Amino acid sequence: MGAGPLKKIGVLTGGGDCPGLNPVIRAIVRKSYSLGLEVIGIKNGWKGLVENETIPLDFQSVSGILPKGGTILGTSRTNPYKDPNHLASLKANIQSLRLDALVVIGGEDTLGVAHKLFKEGIKLVGVPKTIDNDLSETDYTFGFDTAVNTAMESIDRLHTTAESHQRIMVVEVMGRHAGWIAVHAGIAGGADFILIPEIPIDLEEICAAVQNRHARGKTFSIIVVAEGAQFATGQAVTQDRKLDEFGHVRLGGIGETLGTLIEKKTGFETRVTVLGHVQRGGSPTALDRVLGTRFGVKAVELISNGEFGKMVSLKGNAIVAVPIESAVKQLKTVEMDLYEIAKIFFG
Ligand code: F6P
Repeated sequence: MGAGPLKKIGVLTGGGDCPGLNPVIRAIVRKSYSLGLEVIGIKNGWKGLVENETIPLDFQSVSGILPKGGTILGTSRTNPYKDPNHLASLKANIQSLRLDALVVIGGEDTLGVAHKLFKEGIKLVGVPKTIDNDLSETDYTFGFDTAVNTAMESIDRLHTTAESHQRIMVVEVMGRHAGWIAVHAGIAGGADFILIPEIPIDLEEICAAVQNRHARGKTFSIIVVAEGAQFATGQAVTQDRKLDEFGHVRLGGIGETLGTLIEKKTGFETRVTVLGHVQRGGSPTALDRVLGTRFGVKAVELISNGEFGKMVSLKGNAIVAVPIESAVKQLKTVEMDLYEIAKIFFG
């Protein structure tokens, strides 16, 4: 990376995809071109920099992508720090591609790598992305609003069938370490109980809430559970024990476990719905399109001002810059004030 004027920047999307990535890419390209900067897209996250897989990004390539879910660049969970040869190729490719700076769009893992690279002298800025909304130093990440709306609509649909059949419906939503989706979708969808990774599951409490409702004449209940929620004694329920390159297991199954226990304890017929990747797909909401656009524009402004090692962030209604380091230090878990509000409607 040269010390001369900025000419060419690279952009990549890493980690799980989410709605709003394409609006960010589009904004980066449009703002860059207005400043006379050339942009190339790096394919599939850090993998594309290791393997030198890129595509040129111009007005034409970002035309029409604003409403599209996913990412036109592709993504992966590649961690270049897993293998010194990969790291060496990544650095060599930054040189050979003549990239003056990078825009890294990702969650805690992708931005964790970005922070390490920045400390090694790579000029870059970060853009926070995750449907889980668990990145520190930003009030919201794009993708979250779309995921919450998808989950809320599903809960609305489950209400009518739950009521018709007088059943308990357990809805498992995403949220590995934090229950933001569960709490927001649960409040918006009128859930009768919400379980999040931040608070150990108490089966007695859930069943008491359900029985309370029945005593009041309600014949159905909706229980929202984040995939990362756990019993006080146990571990998170997983699909298998395989780890990805950042050491994460594949979560999933807590809804089914819970459904069986609740049915056994209350005697009420219970069904389980796992929303899974439906929450990550589809067209971004207006809020996520606007947030993604604002983030993309700000990222290019940071680059052109030479403010490297920073991440764009939403604080209140302002888009600001924060050190990537503070954003990846610890996860942002659900505020208990918000959970207290949700609790008013339990049972
Ligand atoms: O980090 C976002 C997230 O959606 C988590 O809630 C979930 O555990 C994970 O991604 C699943 O991702 P994948 O199935 O792509 O590995």
